[in-house]
Amino acid sequence: MTYAVDLTGRSAVVTGAAQGIGKAVAAMLCRAGAAVAFVDRNAAGAEAAAREAGVPGRARGIGVDISDETSVASAWQDIAAQAGGIDIVVNAAGVISPNVPADQAEMSDFDRVIAVNLKGILITAKHAYPHLKAGGRGSIINLSSQAALLSLPNQAIYTASKGGVTSLTRSLAIDWARDNIRVNAIAPTFIRTPMAEPMLADPAVLRASERRIPLGRVGVPDDIASVALFLASDMSSLMTGQTLAVDGGWSIGEPGLDLK
Ligand SMILES: NC(=O)c1ccc[n+]([C@@H]2O[C@H](COP(=O)([O-])OP(=O)(O)OC[C@H]3O[C@@H](n4cnc5c(N)ncnc54)[C@H](O)[C@@H]3O)[C@@H](O)[C@H]2O)c1
Repeated sequence: MTYAVDLTGRSAVVTGAAQGIGKAVAAMLCRAGAAVAFVDRNAAGAEAAAREAGVPGRARGIGVDISDETSVASAWQDIAAQAGGIDIVVNAAGVISPNVPADQAEMSDFDRVIAVNLKGILITAKHAYPHLKAGGRGSIINLSSQAALLSLPNQAIYTASKGGVTSLTRSLAIDWARDNIRVNAIAPTFIRTPMAEPMLADPAVLRASERRIPLGRVGVPDDIASVALFLASDMSSLMTGQTLAVDGGWSIGEPGLDLK
């Protein structure tokens, strides 16, 4: 897919960029002309993804755990110093909880998931803020989930973390609008990535999802990357605080009821 969006001269940080959605977003921002820091706790994966983007000098892989505030603060300083600032932050690093009913939820899983999916986003955004503000504009894009809009069974912890992402997105947006920093979120349906593939490998889950989605298919990472590109660019300059469902219509209702 190619788009006529020009991000030449912009500097972007994408977390979770070693694989899946983050990798596809980072690569698409590179193709649009931005200088992109591919950030992941998997340093070797981040470096490989940056190399694969094929834009030497504009793509750089960095190993950072986004739940560690000290590491994030110093990594963002380093990225801003090297790239001449930070204009765009995409928070795609995330983890899932085991699929169990809420009465079997383990608090160790709650702490682990919240530390990355929710606290991690506040950390990355908080430490990007001074750099975005210094540039006079900015766009932050957070990965929420359709689980923030409609509950799925056996996912209480993950769902709570993503509900938090959608609320945090609005809070950051209202605090930083005066600085011309926009903050939006994307709520995807199932997307074929290493996170979702084990669930989609069950033919019953795949069939049920395809039946449940009005457009009739699960997504691929570029379905999300193209929306992130739109939110990163000036094409969305009057949008802030929104969570965009990219879910083939899952959240608008059940298809299949053929009223006569
Ligand atoms: N794939 C889906 O179906 C789907 C649906 C809705 C929302 N999402 C969300 O989209 C985002 C990306 O998901 P994905 O499917 O690409 O996942 P993925 O597991 O394929 O990739 C996530 C990446 O995040 C990195 N990561 C995890 N914890 C980290 C940390 N503490 N610091 C730095 N990096 C860390 C991992 O190393 C990995 O490279 C997640 O927030 C996920 O919850 C995914």
